[in-house]
Amino acid sequence: QWAAALGPREVVLAGPRSFCAGVERAIDIVERALDRYGAPVHVRRQIVHNAHVVRSLEERGAVFVQELEEVPEGAVVVLAAHGVSPAVRAQAEARRLTVVDATCPLVAKVHTEVRRYAGRGDTVFVIGHRDHEEVEGTVGEAPGDVLVVEDAAAARVIAPRDAGRVAYVMQTTLAVDEAEEVAGVLRERFPTLSAPRRDDICYATTNRQQAVRAVAAQTELVLVVGSANSSNSRRLVEVAERCGTTAYLVDDVGDIDLRWLAGVSRIGVTAGASAPPHLVDEVVAALSGLGTTTVRESSVVDEDVRFTLPREVS
Ligand code: F3S
Repeated sequence: QWAAALGPREVVLAGPRSFCAGVERAIDIVERALDRYGAPVHVRRQIVHNAHVVRSLEERGAVFVQELEEVPEGAVVVLAAHGVSPAVRAQAEARRLTVVDATCPLVAKVHTEVRRYAGRGDTVFVIGHRDHEEVEGTVGEAPGDVLVVEDAAAARVIAPRDAGRVAYVMQTTLAVDEAEEVAGVLRERFPTLSAPRRDDICYATTNRQQAVRAVAAQTELVLVVGSANSSNSRRLVEVAERCGTTAYLVDDVGDIDLRWLAGVSRIGVTAGASAPPHLVDEVVAALSGLGTTTVRESSVVDEDVRFTLPREVS
């Protein structure tokens, strides 16, 4: 089927794409925990939101669980990159688990902000998706003092207990423009609103969105490699679509429907921060196998962010 050559085409790779420093660190932590403590190592929730990453760690001896009750007392457990509420940490302590925390430092920073604002009596608006694990963890820092704001419409009607004592934080993987719109509504409604000095949307999310926008402007179709439950990957599809370019989310090369490629000569390819680089290579190889193809990189910025490992595995 792939052999159906459809004329010469160009593949434009978005840069940066694929793994961010927080995801690399989280995967590294599970691998090191397996080396140090031996299999099985339990991991609460998907370590990062990618089906391939989870499967390959499972093959190495990681056991993924939804809740800590499923982890035997006294065992080793890795907490996923999205962060957890203090209630989960307390539960781990009660079960005498050895915790290795893979929370991304940039998510941990948002938790610290929530504690600080709530600690001084502010109501904290969390701009983000209520059902996302990261937001669940962030809210858990001060459940009685936090209000989740999902979109601009919600921001227009949200009612804090004291309009003069309010602050906001954000989920790290939102669409930059949408989040800014929500923050704008809040700022207008609450003139004394406090905000983190630096935006909570992380560098990796920001850079990947900027990169996909540049690629969408040069192509007719954008393929985003990532899993359906990956927030930042889904935002990449939406950002490309808002540029007027057709875009699809694919877990891997097997998800590509050849009909999408009919009559398309310029294809953009990117990947969410949780999607492994080899999946992108496989997509590019498959596209190249269709006929005369040139591949070039469209890079908007270089990334050199690295995070240190927790002491349990360093
Ligand atoms: Fe961290 Fe951003 Fe990646 S919050 S896990 S660096 S997408």
